[in-house]
Amino acid sequence: MPTSQSTSGPLSIAIVGMGTVGTGVARVLLQQPERITRRAGRPLVLRHAVVSDLKKTRDVELPAGILTDDVQRVINDRETKIAIHLVGGLGAAREIMLALLESGKDVVTANKALLCEHGPELFAKAHQLGRSIAFEAAVAGGIPIIATLSQSMAGNQITSISGILNGTTNFILSEMIQRQQTYADALRLAQELGYAEADPTLDVDGTDAAQKLVILTQLAFGTKVALNDFPRQGIDTLDLSDIRYAAELGYTVKLLAISKLVENQLEMHVSPTLVKKQTPLAEVNGSFNAVALSGDVVGDTWYSGRGAGQMPTASAVLADLIDMAVGRAQLTFQQLELWRTEPNFRMLPTSQTSSRYYLRFNIEDRPHMLADIADVLGRHQISIASVIQHEAPEPAGGTAGGKSFVPLVIMTHRTTAGNVDAAGKEFAKFPSLRAPLVQLPVAN
Ligand code: NAP
Ligand code: HSE
Repeated sequence: MPTSQSTSGPLSIAIVGMGTVGTGVARVLLQQPERITRRAGRPLVLRHAVVSDLKKTRDVELPAGILTDDVQRVINDRETKIAIHLVGGLGAAREIMLALLESGKDVVTANKALLCEHGPELFAKAHQLGRSIAFEAAVAGGIPIIATLSQSMAGNQITSISGILNGTTNFILSEMIQRQQTYADALRLAQELGYAEADPTLDVDGTDAAQKLVILTQLAFGTKVALNDFPRQGIDTLDLSDIRYAAELGYTVKLLAISKLVENQLEMHVSPTLVKKQTPLAEVNGSFNAVALSGDVVGDTWYSGRGAGQMPTASAVLADLIDMAVGRAQLTFQQLELWRTEPNFRMLPTSQTSSRYYLRFNIEDRPHMLADIADVLGRHQISIASVIQHEAPEPAGGTAGGKSFVPLVIMTHRTTAGNVDAAGKEFAKFPSLRAPLVQLPVAN
């Protein structure tokens, strides 16, 4: 197997994409050359830094002549053995990745959208060409979760992955809950701090966390899944009142990504979830991520750390780069091929997933209303655990057609998503209810 460590002299590398993460990587490479040389066993020489706009100012002083807007310079350079691919998005990013592999380079990437959408094609191409792709930085920023799954947990059948995988949304929720920031202000700050994607919609609508969950699931369960195979909901539809009611009930709200085996089938979803206060997940704040992994041999394990931002992500990229230089990444990448022969798990139909639920209704303030709601829930095997309805002077819940509406919050006992959806369909026809009906799962 040809590897990037075939000789012991200086090893030329390129960074394609010198934005938030690329700048952080370049800074460490240029400011800590002795450390990097010791760990990589040879000097790593940054030979090209590719951007799309040469006029932008860069927050790092690069050696003369290496900045370019022509990726072909890297592709045509046979001396450059490793390319760090830090271009976001799909179309151009895919073309660049394929061209880098075809030109004989091993590739380190942080682009989870690309791996989620085109991973099978790119990994197959790399295998076919005898090249490797390393992607520690694609999931959970500075937490070494890819190495943990692909190396440290190799003797286990993973049974459950549950985590906070998006730093931007965790930061926004923390700012809203702890510092009473508005959603818009918190999002703006996350963008300024370099946590958010170029298109922050992908963060707040749950797509970024779901893309990371796809990568982890494929690694942990050897099962090909696509983004649309499981439900995802972001925090963009969350109302401040839900965060407040959750707090009143003793919970905080976190965007949780879950993938677990239930009777040998795979349950997956991404959703804002009520998490009991003072439990480890509830204490993960700001841009931190956390992942709880369970394996059939090891039992339960827990990892947390900075999940987004320039230097935590650069830390993961550098680890992959050093692994590439010493040949570890190639070994791991080739070994993962063996795992592909393992049996796939089938997806558990979403309707059969089970949880406790937080439900918020806007109900007409009239006689028999609670009884009507309880009747629908009861007929769908949904048992009520607790209820909040605050007395409020009219028209506290708003008025429509001269009627007065108030919020009603119900916590249920464990039931299935199918039961909740079926009840929701009945509620949608209720003239005495005003949309939206909010339903959020409650973590175990
Ligand atoms: P970014 O700040 O938008 O940087 C992207 C870089 O790519 C820019 O330097 C841009 O050039 C360059 N670029 C864009 N199109 C190009 C093209 N066709 N050819 C060559 N260069 C091109 O993004 P980022 O935050 O560093 O993220 C990079 C990747 O890492 C993304 O896939 C992201 O999802 C992932 N990631 C980011 C973080 C984070 O916290 N930021 C964490 C984990 C993973 P210009 O500078 O000239 O515009
Ligand atoms: N936008 C991503 C996040 C970057 O906020 O988690 C890290 O992958």
